[in-house]
Amino acid sequence: PVSASATLQQQHSQPDPELASSLPTDHPKLIGWIRAQQSLLEPDNVHWCDGSQEEYESLVNDLVDRGVMIPLNSKLRPGSYLTRTDISDVARSESSTFICSQRQIDAGPTNNWVDPNVMRVELERSFRGSMRGRTMYVIPFSMGPIGSPLARIGVQVTDSPFVVVNMRIMTRIGQPVLDALGTDNEFVPCVHSVGKPLEPGEKDVLWPCNIPQRKVVHFPESREIWSFGSGYGGNSLLGKKCLALRIASVMARDEGSLAEHMLILGLTSPEGKKYYVAAAFPSACGKTNLAMLQPTLPGWKVQVVGDDINWMKFNPKDSRLYAINPEAGFFGVAPGTSAKTNPNAMETIYKNTLFTNVALTEKGDVWWEGMTKARPEGKVINWRGEVWEPSMGERGTPLAHPNSRFTVSLDQCPVKDPAWDDPNGVPISAIIFGGRREKTVPLVFQTKDWNHGVLVGATVASEKTAAAEGSDLGQLRFDPFAMLPFAGYNMGDYFSHWLSMPNRVKDPSKLPKIFHVNWFRKDAKGSFMWPGFGDNSRVLKWIVDRLERPDDKSLFTSTPIGYVPKPESLDLQGIEKQVQGDVMMNLLKVDGEAYLSEVNKAREYFKRFGDRFPAKLTKELDDLEDRLKKN
Ligand code: PEP
Ligand code: NA
Ligand code: MN
Repeated sequence: PVSASATLQQQHSQPDPELASSLPTDHPKLIGWIRAQQSLLEPDNVHWCDGSQEEYESLVNDLVDRGVMIPLNSKLRPGSYLTRTDISDVARSESSTFICSQRQIDAGPTNNWVDPNVMRVELERSFRGSMRGRTMYVIPFSMGPIGSPLARIGVQVTDSPFVVVNMRIMTRIGQPVLDALGTDNEFVPCVHSVGKPLEPGEKDVLWPCNIPQRKVVHFPESREIWSFGSGYGGNSLLGKKCLALRIASVMARDEGSLAEHMLILGLTSPEGKKYYVAAAFPSACGKTNLAMLQPTLPGWKVQVVGDDINWMKFNPKDSRLYAINPEAGFFGVAPGTSAKTNPNAMETIYKNTLFTNVALTEKGDVWWEGMTKARPEGKVINWRGEVWEPSMGERGTPLAHPNSRFTVSLDQCPVKDPAWDDPNGVPISAIIFGGRREKTVPLVFQTKDWNHGVLVGATVASEKTAAAEGSDLGQLRFDPFAMLPFAGYNMGDYFSHWLSMPNRVKDPSKLPKIFHVNWFRKDAKGSFMWPGFGDNSRVLKWIVDRLERPDDKSLFTSTPIGYVPKPESLDLQGIEKQVQGDVMMNLLKVDGEAYLSEVNKAREYFKRFGDRFPAKLTKELDDLEDRLKKN
């Protein structure tokens, strides 16, 4: 008998010459791997995706015929569809996401770990025959522009046509990817099954899934991804969080580059100078909004390269970090997106958009909380598929699931950066970290140097708000580099990797400058002190001023936590009334006592990394404490 691990390892069997001649690839390893999956998963058919528009339309039409996708009103929302998932399959399942490194210590204290041999037996049990009665789609995909030196190729097999159409928007798929793969280039094997085989004659459900056996598994050493039982975005579009963050972070560690949970934006000043900026915020802090920001400052322009993932690599010629967005689309949270918070997103999703778990209006359009002030007129079908009428008040609400999403091509964004798919990437001048902090953390500050910046990245945190349960109001939830659910290896080693960057370039002075922002500071009455959204362009302008005039003392005060703007150095033209009096001073105040308590919380948090926690970072924390005590 063949052992489970042998069956699930990548196979290198010789392809059958007759079978091989009808395949769209001559890559022996890929063909062998597909044959192995076929014998494990036992699908009725195999379909190699060519990535064409015809293929997309035919899959969409099938999904519509089966009632899985609901066409929206073609006058209001052309080429767009609504899908409702199973009510339990609505978000990434972090508790069933695993990093199965050989040794537990290499997954680290922030990841779920299971012994890889044990996990392979479990996977064998789940995946054996799991595609019976279904078609296995083979999706060759490129994360990053096809052929870019920064791109990586994956091949996903899936039994979900819904996943195929979403992957076609979120990544580059099909024949051009197979061509780039040639006969011997590397690919990351990704296996996905909804985990619901069909008996002969059995009728399929609208959203097949298998919640009890759901698991999203990564083998960082052999660079494989196995996802079972879920059709939801982050669990099933394996190019995204699984490959582009968890596996790619391991690859980046090994090759000296970075794979980060960061947006990338291009910023142009009124003088026409262009800068690229990367930013990492924990979820629900407005990454997509910042990436597509519409500046309120006259003459400034923001253009989007990416809203979620950023791969960066040094160019040895100029010592600069070049970034690509490995994705080709947005998988954005719908609720809260509106003409006010993100007009460019609203324009992007006007057509050719796949919506999941939003509400359906009587006119055949979509709606979600925060899209408009009032709920739509007439009957609405909520995300669960139930009828809601205005007379029902709060019953049956929220109408859209809080994690309802839109999937849309980046190419459709009115503010896409001209270099958004440049195979060479864009040079990053500044990196911004941020969190949701009611107190203590000023609107913006610049870190003293790279290592201090790494400390600030490692201490990214959000406060629990009154909306969250529990009596631990104000307690910090750490989310280092906003990578807590996405680092594919020990987070202590990840910090060390970041600290190693200055040693990897000839001229470390060319490294991006590191900043921290906080749009969420509140006053004594509990109101936000900073208007946010388009007015965040004022903070971006200050960052550019710092890049251009590092010695201009009128721009900053040197404080124990870093360089904080002098209140008058922020351009407030047009919002003087909103941020008058001592508001600006309070937004920029550094409270030494409060910061010392932050240092203690961070020290406590870092204990869990034991001896994998880099000594250099302990020194940064000690130095910060000294500076605060001396102040
Ligand atoms: C996801 O859940 O698939 C996802 C993209 O997550 P997030 O919005 O938290 O990045
Ligand atoms: Na999510
Ligand atoms: Mn994200």
